[in-house]
Amino acid sequence: MTEETPVIGVLTSGGDAPGMNAAIRAMVRTALVNKMRPMGVINGFAGLVKGEFKNLGARDVGGILQRGGTILLTSRCDDFLHPAGQREAVRNINEAGLDAVVVIGGDGSMRGAHVLSQQGVKVIGIPASIDNDVWGTNICVGTDTAMNTIMDAVDKLRDTAASHQRAFLIETMGRRSGYLAVMAGIVCGAEMTLIPEVPVTIDEVAQAVEDAYRRGKTHAIIVNAEGSNVRTTDLAAGIDARDVGFKTRYTILGHIQRGGSPTAYDRLLSSRMAVRAVEALASGTHGVMTGLQGGGIELVPLADVAARTRDINMEYYHMARVLAH
Ligand code: F6P
Repeated sequence: MTEETPVIGVLTSGGDAPGMNAAIRAMVRTALVNKMRPMGVINGFAGLVKGEFKNLGARDVGGILQRGGTILLTSRCDDFLHPAGQREAVRNINEAGLDAVVVIGGDGSMRGAHVLSQQGVKVIGIPASIDNDVWGTNICVGTDTAMNTIMDAVDKLRDTAASHQRAFLIETMGRRSGYLAVMAGIVCGAEMTLIPEVPVTIDEVAQAVEDAYRRGKTHAIIVNAEGSNVRTTDLAAGIDARDVGFKTRYTILGHIQRGGSPTAYDRLLSSRMAVRAVEALASGTHGVMTGLQGGGIELVPLADVAARTRDINMEYYHMARVLAH
């Protein structure tokens, strides 16, 4: 490597998502093949603010393709939200001689990437979030694995729900987005799906459970997104108090949804996005995010990603309702 060899940083930020390691591996190896020097930033944007960097070679990313989490660590960094933190980050980037930074993370991380880009840093984003709430891509790295984790859990809960003839409330992640809940509602055959985008009352949910009972269902599954307007514990108590036929139990899936080995889909998606990101940098493109659109990986301006939110497709919500009949 010569003095002129471009140095490319990579960081993972926000909630970890399965496939982040696969993206790091692909980024590092593609960078090396393109005669760039990959540099890991430790702990997300906090590592930029503190100046925590680590050289990454091809062998440093061996054996991580199948591992969940992120070897570079991640954080939600309040310091970077303020001008002083952003100034420190840019200073450390310059001091370490980074020519560009690849940011792997969710919607907040893409907004951070845009801020860096506005300050003159060459940045490319890779969307990775189980919530699938990043505008500009059909799906984020990690969402498919989380969906499969949820599906596996609900299938197991259905076994016991059916055996005891109970209604089970299952809470999925997704702070502001009902994506995981709606998709789970379809692929797990839920009687009802509650999402932040569509407020409901406990009476309505209880009525739906009672209707399911009256239609002869042997058990009921209700998927509640964590960001919906009703808390899972209140729902369980409220339904039981109304005597709807089924007794209830609830399970909050929580952070288990973020862990685990990435699916084949997520390994492929993260690898494709990382290769595209490095090749784009090599050809002088930056200020963009890799997005899956149709079958291809496109480059979407970070300014657009940062300015917009990804809404769920309500057709899926209606489909979940129809299939609950
Ligand atoms: O952003 C992904 C996510 O898993 C959300 O679904 C969830 O609300 C949040 O992160 C939890 O964040 P933390 O791990 O910081 O509590």
